[in-house]
Amino acid sequence: MLFDTKFLAALLAISGVNASKIIKSRAAASNFTLYAYGTNITGLNVFYADGLAYIGNAAPSGASVASNITFSTTDPNSNSATWSVSSTDSAFSTAPALYIVPTNNTFTQVGFYTSSNSSSSLPTGGVTTGFELFGNALSYITSDGTLEQQFWAQATDATDTWKLMWNAGGEGGVTVDGYAITPVTVKTTAPLVISDSTSSTSK
Ligand SMILES: *[C@@H]1O[C@H](CO)[C@@H](O)[C@H](O)[C@H]1NC(C)=O
Ligand SMILES: *[C@@H]1O[C@H](CO)[C@@H](O)[C@H](O)[C@H]1NC(C)=O
Ligand SMILES: *[C@@H]1O[C@H](CO)[C@@H](O)[C@H](O)[C@H]1NC(C)=O
Ligand SMILES: *[C@@H]1O[C@H](CO)[C@@H](O)[C@H](O)[C@H]1NC(C)=O
Ligand SMILES: *[C@@H]1O[C@H](CO)[C@@H](O)[C@H](O)[C@H]1NC(C)=O
Repeated sequence: MLFDTKFLAALLAISGVNASKIIKSRAAASNFTLYAYGTNITGLNVFYADGLAYIGNAAPSGASVASNITFSTTDPNSNSATWSVSSTDSAFSTAPALYIVPTNNTFTQVGFYTSSNSSSSLPTGGVTTGFELFGNALSYITSDGTLEQQFWAQATDATDTWKLMWNAGGEGGVTVDGYAITPVTVKTTAPLVISDSTSSTSK
């Protein structure tokens, strides 16, 4: 079904959602948030803690620098550009680049690499390019041109905080180091928040 923007805006106004925010996030190449979706993970944002990517709100215990982030890239439909992140609250002032380690059959946490930071290193096999949006979903294009969406969430000791992982040959329903692994997709689309009053009247 096709909606025009005015109709969509009216519809969203009824459900209490900020329409301008959603419409903008669709096409933006810079300053957007990424959200993870999967079982029990209903659109939780991807955030930064000590150079690594997590999903949820609460920083993992012991993190010295944790922050919500926005992503920017010169062209979300080109896989040759890096995706850099900025802290939304100035917790860090650098613009580290998103990386994954696309080595097959190994779960490795997604992270952020800053070449100018001597404590930051790109793990063996890690890549900072190859990312692009397929629809609203963050994807990785392999060197032979295959599009992959092999993001996973690994539970942590903090409820509703997961490590964001990558593994091109992974399976769900496994545990690694005692923590459950579940598949997720990573999207630019924010979850629709339905307030209690709205959901009870629409019953
Ligand atoms: C990024 O977006 C947020 C809200 O969507 C806005 O408050 C902020 O100023 C923007 N930052 C930049 C650098 O454009
Ligand atoms: C989702 O949450 C329910 C309730 O807490 C739990 O029983 C189930 O194992 C969870 N599923 C996954 C894949 O984490
Ligand atoms: C430098 O990198 C380390 C490891 O990724 C990180 O913990 C630290 O916060 C970074 N420092 C700055 C200033 O970005
Ligand atoms: C990210 O923002 C949410 C909502 O404002 C907040 O609850 C959470 O603590 C923030 N996360 C970090 C790591 O600062
Ligand atoms: C990765 O592993 C999966 C399953 O083990 C296999 O199907 C796939 O071809 C492998 N991909 C590469 C690039 O080796």
